[in-house]
Amino acid sequence: MVLDDVLLKYMQTAVRVVVLTGAGVSAESGVPTFRQAQTGLWAQYDPHDLATPQAFQRNPALVWEWYAWRRDLVSKAQPNPAHLALAELAQRVDQFALITQNVDNLHQRAGSQNVIELHGNITRIKCADDGRIVTNWPESDETPPKCPDCDHYLRPDVVWFGENLPRGALERAIQLARDCDLFFSIGTSALVQPAASLPLLAVENGAVLVEINPDQTPLTRYADYALHGPAGEVLPALVQAVWG
Ligand code: OAD
Repeated sequence: MVLDDVLLKYMQTAVRVVVLTGAGVSAESGVPTFRQAQTGLWAQYDPHDLATPQAFQRNPALVWEWYAWRRDLVSKAQPNPAHLALAELAQRVDQFALITQNVDNLHQRAGSQNVIELHGNITRIKCADDGRIVTNWPESDETPPKCPDCDHYLRPDVVWFGENLPRGALERAIQLARDCDLFFSIGTSALVQPAASLPLLAVENGAVLVEINPDQTPLTRYADYALHGPAGEVLPALVQAVWG
């Protein structure tokens, strides 16, 4: 992939760099993207029918099992060169912020700090009633397990369809998008709000917008640079080209 010299110059001189990632950055770790077909046992289910408060109300055990399967899958996955390049990029630029829609914890495992998790994190478990994080609970054959303090069900600390995003995370993400010089939208279909508005906020405020995605998205037309390739190849190439 030929990398534009002006883009490389921007990366070298940008003071405030913000990155928004989606499931595409974890694709090369073998974690299926949201809109890729589910596999095996879960092939018959559409994530949109499982990742909702109504689904959990209707069949808490099924939803808990689905997340247990995904937790197992991501725990066996490894951060890929895209995750590692982003951790490297954070060391190279003046001010860096990583905002992710992913719940797979792979950015954190790659060494990224202060990751802004717009949709939560599948490796964290919380009480379904008061939302407090629960790190351990008595062994039981009940599914889902119960909160040790109030006997309500436990659930994954992720944002389900129809639920609000964590307030602090969204406010911080908006503020960062408004205030940056260079914004990367990487591995996201740019379909789901409010995350999909963040790149446009950055453009409105004069930032240069770079999209990294093998496919076109609704955002592509607004990007100053649309790099059509897999993040696991494009990001290391960018970091290498600028900082050797
Ligand atoms: P999607 O599955 O909607 O989009 C994944 C994007 O990654 C697509 O545009 C692919 O073209 C792109 N892609 C695939 N392989 C790639 C690669 N190797 N490198 C770069 N890009 C690649 O996933 P998201 O956009 O993250 O929300 O979905 C956003 C949200 O929709 C999810 O966080 C989830 C879902 O509703 C909640 O669960 C609340």
